[in-house]
Formats: sequence, C-alpha cells, structure tokens
Amino acid sequence: MKDLFSLKNKVVVLTGGSGYLGSAVTEGILEFGASVVIADIAHKKHEETVSGRKAHGKSADVVCDVSDTASVREMFRKTKELYGKIDVLINCAAFGAGFGPAGTVDKMSDEDWTKGLDGTAGVTFRCTREVVPYFEENGGGNIINFSSMYGVVSPDPGIYGNSGQNNPVNYGAGKAAVLQITRYCAAHLAQKNIRVNSITPGPFPSPKNLPPEDFMNNLRNKTMLKRVGIPEDIVGAIILLASDASSFMTGSNIVVDGGWTAW
Ligand SMILES: NC(=O)c1ccc[n+]([C@@H]2O[C@H](COP(=O)([O-])OP(=O)(O)OC[C@H]3O[C@@H](n4cnc5c(N)ncnc54)[C@H](O)[C@@H]3O)[C@@H](O)[C@H]2O)c1
Repeated sequence: MKDLFSLKNKVVVLTGGSGYLGSAVTEGILEFGASVVIADIAHKKHEETVSGRKAHGKSADVVCDVSDTASVREMFRKTKELYGKIDVLINCAAFGAGFGPAGTVDKMSDEDWTKGLDGTAGVTFRCTREVVPYFEENGGGNIINFSSMYGVVSPDPGIYGNSGQNNPVNYGAGKAAVLQITRYCAAHLAQKNIRVNSITPGPFPSPKNLPPEDFMNNLRNKTMLKRVGIPEDIVGAIILLASDASSFMTGSNIVVDGGWTAW
C-alpha cells in the first residue's frame, strides 16, 4: 500500500503549470516521481516554477496557448517526443474575461462572454479532445479538470461591495460546464480506459494580487475553517486523482474550499 500514491514512471501534462496553484501542483507531482510537462503560455515563469526544488521526477517547459488548437496539438506532440507517452492530463490553465465594471450582467459584451467561456470550458474540452488519441495509444489515461467554487455556487455580491473584484457570470458558467464535461467525458471515455475527475478549489487569493484586508476577511468568513487556501492545500487531492490510489474514481469532483460551498 505504501506506493499507492506514487507517480513514478507517469508522464503528466499540466496546463497552467506556471501559475499560482499550478506551481505547487508541479512541485507535488515531481516529488511523487512523475515527469511533468508544464504547458503554459507564460514561458518566463518556468524557472521560478521548478528551480531549486528537490524533484524526483523530471520537468519540461512547453510553451502552449490552450486557446489555440494548433498550439495544443504541438504541445502534446512535443510531450510524446520528450517522454514517449502521456498518462495524465491536468486541465488547470484558465483565462477570464469581463472582470471589473464592464463585466456586470447588464454590461458584459458578447466578446467577453464568449472569451470567458472559452477560457474555462473551451480549454478543458479542447485539451481533452486532443489528448484522447495519445491515451488510446497508451491503453488508457487520466484527466483532472479544475473547476471552481463559483461553478457550484454563485458569488455572494454582498461580500464584494465596491472592491471591483466580483466574479463575472461567464467564469462560473464555464466552471459549472467543466463539472459537466467531467461527468460526460467520464461516461463516454470509460470504455477507452480513461478516467476523468475534477477538483473544485475555493478561495485561493494569490499574494501577487491580494484584495484589500476587509475583503480578505469577508473571504475568510465565508469558509467554515475561517481562512483562505494556500496552494499546498490543493496538492493532496491532485496526487490522489493522478495516482492509482483513485483507480476506481471517475466522474467525481473533489471540493477543496474550506467548507465554502457546504453551507
Ligand atoms: N486561485 C483561486 O482562488 C481559484 C479558485 C477556484 C478555481 N481556480 C482555478 O484554478 C486554476 C489555477 O488558478 P490559479 O489561481 O493558479 O491562476 P493563475 O492565473 O495563477 O494561473 C493560471 C495559469 O494559466 C496560464 N494561462 C492563462 N492563459 C493561458 C493560455 N491561453 N494558454 C496556456 N496557459 C494559460 C497562466 O499563464 C497561468 O500560469 C484555474 O483553472 C482557476 O480557474 C482558482
């Protein structure tokens, strides 16, 4: 049982692997022995992501724009060239549109609406579609999708006040779609021996972009545990889903939100 969570000999593609949560996930996966392709549009952050870390696995940076099919295809092709196969895809990259004053329900443009949906549901679908042939070649595979607490419940406008940080409607709609994509793909890819699960983070404000302290307090108070998440809080659930410890799990969703969505 002690190797249940091992990722040794697994090749993991992590989109958005240079980001706030993606960096911690990269570190965790490497420590559990996998080889990781960090597929992110932000090339420069790669050294920060992996440097100085005591990794047991190997990592490679493959610049990729998940909004662009050709770029996604090239990223998977390169992964195969580098590591010979793909075992796990983690759809973590996301981009939004319509944040701020122009993003209220009555003001959001068609362009922002569509872009925000593509940055959540679209990128998840696109990367899933493109990875399936690699999984078929390999006799199976494993997909982990990042949703959000705002794919489960609405933002409470009362806690945002005039902070300008309210979360726009297209983000949550897209993240709710990610949960349904997870269930649909789990059902329809099971016969190809592909598992699909999702993870639903709660509030993980990045220190690079911290909201004002009164708003931070509102965030803390909306959780049962009275704190916001730190990136390490997400890693255990990812290791579970990426490893054979979850071999009988598919179509499920692990919520890591300090209790935000449970009351
Ligand atoms: N941080 C939170 O509070 C929170 C809460 C709920 C859900 N999530 C979800 O968790 C995931 C990670 O969030 P995060 O906080 O680390 O965000 P982040 O912005 O720090 O990281 C996102 C990463 O995606 C990359 N990216 C953006 N557009 C891309 C593109 N077109 N192609 C390739 N890469 C692209 C960025 O360069 C970045 O490295 C996202 O799916 C997000 O929606 C985050």
